[in-house]
Amino acid sequence: AITSVRGRRVWDSRGNPTLEVDVILEDGSLGRAIAPAGASRGTREAVDLRDGGSNLRGMDVAQALESINKTIAPELVGLSANNQSAVDDRLLELDPSPIKETLGGNAMVATSLAVLHAGAASAKKPLWRHVADLYDQTPSIPLPEIQIFGGGAHAGRRVDIQDFMIMVPGAQSFDEVLEITNEVYFAAGDIMASKGRLAGVADEGGWWPVFDSNEEALETLVKAIEKAGEKPGARVAISLDIAASEFGQNGKYRLALEDKAMDSAELIDLLGNWIDTYPIVSIEDPVGEDDTDGMIEFTKRFGERVQIIGDDYLVTNANLVEAANADRACNAVLIKVNQAGTVSEAVDAFAAAKKSDWGAIVSARSGETEDVSISHLATGLGCGQLKVGSFTRSERMVKWNECLRIQEQLGSGTFAAGSALKGTWWG
Ligand code: PGA
Ligand code: ZN
Repeated sequence: AITSVRGRRVWDSRGNPTLEVDVILEDGSLGRAIAPAGASRGTREAVDLRDGGSNLRGMDVAQALESINKTIAPELVGLSANNQSAVDDRLLELDPSPIKETLGGNAMVATSLAVLHAGAASAKKPLWRHVADLYDQTPSIPLPEIQIFGGGAHAGRRVDIQDFMIMVPGAQSFDEVLEITNEVYFAAGDIMASKGRLAGVADEGGWWPVFDSNEEALETLVKAIEKAGEKPGARVAISLDIAASEFGQNGKYRLALEDKAMDSAELIDLLGNWIDTYPIVSIEDPVGEDDTDGMIEFTKRFGERVQIIGDDYLVTNANLVEAANADRACNAVLIKVNQAGTVSEAVDAFAAAKKSDWGAIVSARSGETEDVSISHLATGLGCGQLKVGSFTRSERMVKWNECLRIQEQLGSGTFAAGSALKGTWWG
């Protein structure tokens, strides 16, 4: 049983305050987790409770810390850490607001994940095994999505599109994905340097996007794949997070870099052109979170060829996944535990996706830390895919490196590889 829950303020990869929780059990087991933080957030996701005001630019988390130490802690003491759903239900009773604004989604997610870790420690299992057993799933090492160029809200909107990523579904192992990614990442850097356009990195460690158009980033990515000795679309494919809510509302979009206004149909045509021209296998949030008609149209036109992921559109919410499946909008969901607020709700969203035969991608946030829970969640749920950001900076690399350690425990034969992309042109 849980004997103590203790929160503390720590700091994330952007230098902002965040929350860490220690959960201690009667048998001495410790579970510890840290809340991440997004920058391009969906309006329907659980909120980070921040103090506002002028101290620490309004970003301090004293109120959320108090939620943990004063409100949550006494309510969880005595509960079993093995009963994750009972713990999460208690958290939801304490804050029934849909976006967790009372306790703070940041307070809840750090607590919920810390309890998950404590349950694993008590059962003397690695976290991935605990997750697989708890939710009766077959574990597998996920296929990564790895950012080469950052953009959008993670790069001062230097380009409109948020993530230019590669996937390596043709790799034989997780290790090989990372080797090929290293080659592509540095090839991209060499190309930028040769044009005098190397200007550091964006929030998640991808190269800063000094481009004259959004499409130029795509062209450069293809060249980088070639320079790395790979044939684009053979072993290596492209994945984009458009994060369209960041540059459009009510079916009206504005690509700032190209100074171009578009309606939903024009944006869909533009992305369709890119799908026809480049080896794109996956697209996230191609239209805005409020553009249901656009998402239905996009899925109708391209759902048989590419993976269409709802992130801001679905905010890791099982009800929204079910509704989107009924609408035939999207065919995959991004799973961010802090969008939901608790582990149980995030797993519900995953289960809804699985029931619909959708893809599921466990994902980090742009504000991250040394916490490696998501490497274990992706593996333990056997969801097949993991999105973490780029291939530099330790808050990213710690997640990829953790997968290497997990692979030693689980065996390399369990790498999801291209099977994660079945139903696309690649699969
Ligand atoms: P965020 O973005 O973590 O900044 O919200 C990540 C994403 O859109 O996938
Ligand atoms: Zn996204």
